[in-house]
Amino acid sequence: MINYADVIVDLQAGDTGKGKVAHTKCAIGVYSHVVRYNGGGNAGHTIYHKGEKFVTHFIPVGVIYGIKSIIGLGCVVDPVKLEEEIIELEKGGFNVRENLFIDKRCHVILPKYVEEDSKDVKIGTTKTGNGQAYREKHNRTGVRAGDIFPPDMLIDIYEEFHGENWVEILFEGAQGFELDIDWGDYPYVTSSHCTVGSAVLNGVPPQKIRKIIGIAKAYRTYVGAKPFETDSEYFEMIREEGGEFGATTGRPRQINWFNLDDVIKAANINGVTDIVINKLDVLEKVGAFHYVYKGEECVLENSQDFIDFIDTVITKNCYSIVSIVWSRSPYEI
Ligand code: IMP
Ligand code: MG
Repeated sequence: MINYADVIVDLQAGDTGKGKVAHTKCAIGVYSHVVRYNGGGNAGHTIYHKGEKFVTHFIPVGVIYGIKSIIGLGCVVDPVKLEEEIIELEKGGFNVRENLFIDKRCHVILPKYVEEDSKDVKIGTTKTGNGQAYREKHNRTGVRAGDIFPPDMLIDIYEEFHGENWVEILFEGAQGFELDIDWGDYPYVTSSHCTVGSAVLNGVPPQKIRKIIGIAKAYRTYVGAKPFETDSEYFEMIREEGGEFGATTGRPRQINWFNLDDVIKAANINGVTDIVINKLDVLEKVGAFHYVYKGEECVLENSQDFIDFIDTVITKNCYSIVSIVWSRSPYEI
């Protein structure tokens, strides 16, 4: 039986620091389960654990704390790359195999999907076969985890969460609102749902959701084929200071200013209760506090003015907001 579930969602175009927030929340130790609810090897979550850097793609961050972790049925999984990732995390001393499970309904990424995706030039995908796996799923011609993985790696989320034991779940999302298949800037989107609804699709009844934690960054980034970056003397500095290069592909991320209109929209559609805004230190180092609100680019003098203004506008415009936390790289939240 589900006691409660907290959901992490990205309010921008991914790479906002969801991994860091999930890692911090797991450290508090209240969750019995962590579930990844969408995406596949396209995701790259960077985690700093006891000073060491780890990048995960498929595996929920819960394994680092020995929490039972599930790749949910809304995800797609590449068995070869998953095995490589397990080995990498084992080298870090984590007991991955004991804590990692895949829902039997989860779809599998086949080598031929990766090959097809590697030819993409239109969207600027991560070339991980993600879109092809979802295409085959919806075409009802896909292969599911239950067809190919050993039974000891498989789980049925229904049995796990709706049985006799009480569970407290952290749902960890991938990508972000601007990349959502429906809400994003189609066709420059990913092939899964990146909203709180996606967590619900993974087997949690809506009324069991306690907190919806929206993650944003103090500026915007995007990786993909569409032009996104505008002209600013600061963007190159932000890219360097913020280390804005893809965790999965190493591509430079395009930069733009924090967009309040988009964050408010994403926060309201997701019904977020809490917002974490990461990487404020990058703007502080660069010394530029720009944002876009009601379609206009504006500038503030300093970090505190930036925080105060954005907090005020979000609090006024987001129906369900309870808290806004600002965070600097890389450890504290
Ligand atoms: P795909 O998900 O690999 O098909 O890529 C579709 C679009 O989503 C491309 O613009 C990718 O760069 C972007 N994308 C996919 N996953 C991520 C992510 O985890 N972070 C940021 N961008 C992503
Ligand atoms: Mg990422």
